[in-house]
Amino acid sequence: MPFGFIKDVTTKNSKIIVGLDVGSTKVCAVVGEVTTGPRPQKRDGVEKLSGYDSNIQIIGAGYAPSKGIKKGVVINIEQTVEAIREAIQKAEEAAGVEIRTVNIGITGRHIGYIASQGVVAVKEKEIGNREVELVIDAARAVAIPFDREILHVIPSEFAINGQSGITDPRSMVGVRLEARVQIITGAASATQNLIKCCQKVGLEVVDVVFQPIATAEAVLTLDERDTGVALIDIGGGTTDMALFQEGRIFHSAVLEVGGANFTNDVAIGLRLPFREAEYVKKEHGCSMLSLIDREEEIGIGFADANSGKRILRTHLVEILQPRAEELFSLIKEELVNRDLHKHMNAGVVLTGGSVLMKGMDVMAENILELPVRIGKPAGIGGSEDVVGNPAYAAVSGLILREAGENLKEQELNGGSIFHSIKSKMNGWFR
Ligand SMILES: Nc1ncnc2c1ncn2[C@@H]1O[C@H](COP(=O)(O)OP(=O)(O)OP(=O)(O)O)[C@@H](O)[C@H]1O
Ligand SMILES: [Mg+2]
Repeated sequence: MPFGFIKDVTTKNSKIIVGLDVGSTKVCAVVGEVTTGPRPQKRDGVEKLSGYDSNIQIIGAGYAPSKGIKKGVVINIEQTVEAIREAIQKAEEAAGVEIRTVNIGITGRHIGYIASQGVVAVKEKEIGNREVELVIDAARAVAIPFDREILHVIPSEFAINGQSGITDPRSMVGVRLEARVQIITGAASATQNLIKCCQKVGLEVVDVVFQPIATAEAVLTLDERDTGVALIDIGGGTTDMALFQEGRIFHSAVLEVGGANFTNDVAIGLRLPFREAEYVKKEHGCSMLSLIDREEEIGIGFADANSGKRILRTHLVEILQPRAEELFSLIKEELVNRDLHKHMNAGVVLTGGSVLMKGMDVMAENILELPVRIGKPAGIGGSEDVVGNPAYAAVSGLILREAGENLKEQELNGGSIFHSIKSKMNGWFR
């Protein structure tokens, strides 16, 4: 640990929460300082919690180019460890704190959903947290293959004495409590490898969250999640789709196309090294020919001083447009073939680094035939590099989610600050 860092950063009313996003392009660690106080708050017109509120400020961030991660999954432990170490060290220096715990996100094609239900007899007069905990435990007790792990158990509804459609049964009266839940699982090896990489850097993993659930915290409103929305995170290696309705995630898919495919196309099409192609894409890229000036010229190839030249920007965009069309067509296929299109009443929210390319939202709207907006991390303050940048939506969400969990914990514990053992109640009710 470098000399001079503040060692114990949790005080009575403030806490440091670190989000660690191990992506296929970048590994980034973002340090949030959360202060909590007894202040009722409304968000989107909905009273969130009775008496407490958090204020989150980003006080530092560090990132390193990603190595050892492919399509969201660790393929090389040593390289991933190195990238995490670098990102953490930079974040520690930027924030002036020592980082010991992190919240991580997980994604990839290995994520699966299982529907399950449970039932318990209610002995008390009134249903309380304990009964809810028991019925959810009963619902989660399904046979999970040994190579899979439960990431989340999300109740979709409860029934009391056969009366279904209840969203929160607490304080209600009945003798038979049933819960319908959706269990989100992941490959145990994927989670364990990521945790192992963190441990090798000396970090304790507080929570592993299915990434879109975290990202949603940063970019979606509660209204959107209730009405029906598709959250599409276009990263470097993958595009993660997650569908929300009635306040919870109900479907997700991972498409193995991302920003790196755009860069590869540019590298091949313009005969440039990958690094140079990445620069040209970020600097001059656009997904639609109709949005640029046909006469505009751009400089390319300046990494090698002898080969710098000027080309028409249309040459670049002619390469990028078909890839963008392909990507949004794949997304549409997933929505239409599975009959999910009709659930998206609040439209589509695009996030991830690749949506920084000009025209992505316009093209998405044309192809998907749904209203589209770009989702930037909201609900936090501080570093401008992070706040408002779609590439940091997932990592910001990890911080927001953990802060939210702590807040619920605090509510359940009658106001006592930040319990170290997470209550099983977390995440069940909003
Ligand atoms: N201004 C820009 N224009 C076009 N593309 C951009 C721009 N800025 C970043 N990108 C692209 O965004 C991608 C990285 O996005 P992001 O940081 O969300 O990925 P990641 O989280 O590391 O990857 P993944 O989520 O796939 O694991 C890269 O392909 C990068 O080229
Ligand atoms: Mg990502």
